[in-house]
Amino acid sequence: MTYAELEHFNESFTRCTSDPRFLERFYALFLASSDEVRHKFTQTDLPKQRRALQASFHMVLLAATSDPVGTAHFERLAVLHSQPHLDIPPHLYDLWLDCLVQAVQESDSQWPKVADTVIEAERVIMRWDRLTVRLNHGAKPHDIRRT
Ligand code: HEM
Repeated sequence: MTYAELEHFNESFTRCTSDPRFLERFYALFLASSDEVRHKFTQTDLPKQRRALQASFHMVLLAATSDPVGTAHFERLAVLHSQPHLDIPPHLYDLWLDCLVQAVQESDSQWPKVADTVIEAERVIMRWDRLTVRLNHGAKPHDIRRT
């Protein structure tokens, strides 16, 4: 991502997350998207989960510039979501992204202007998703860093 694209991503997510209803809406959409997703979150403290996801959006910016703090954050999340731990199957990430895009569309009135940027941001997140898929298939940590 270029610096300008990162700025757009940051501005869009700042607009979205300044309204607490944005993350509430995202999780409402995500939980409604499948029984499998709902089942994964039965024991979850959702307000805490929303705060954790908000922090992750900031980490996207760091990870996109290969800042080690951002990279380490997503590597830890990849391990947490992998088969031996939360065991999140790859197809649930498609739902996650669809719900995120829908929540952004509903929340950010400047959506048409930032559409390309959000798609770029998705790619950043999807890169992390691929790490998770590889972890699910037993890739070694040193392989993961090269993706
Ligand atoms: C790229 C997409 C995703 C991001 C950025 C993300 C982010 C996070 C974060 C920040 C946490 C909290 C970690 C912590 O406690 O330290 C978390 C936990 C969790 N995530 Fe994800 N996640 C993603 C995709 C998914 C998907 C697709 C599912 C499928 C259901 C999922 C299910 C969970 C569950 C079950 C937890 C644990 C909740 C608990 O503590 O009870 N995540 N995720």
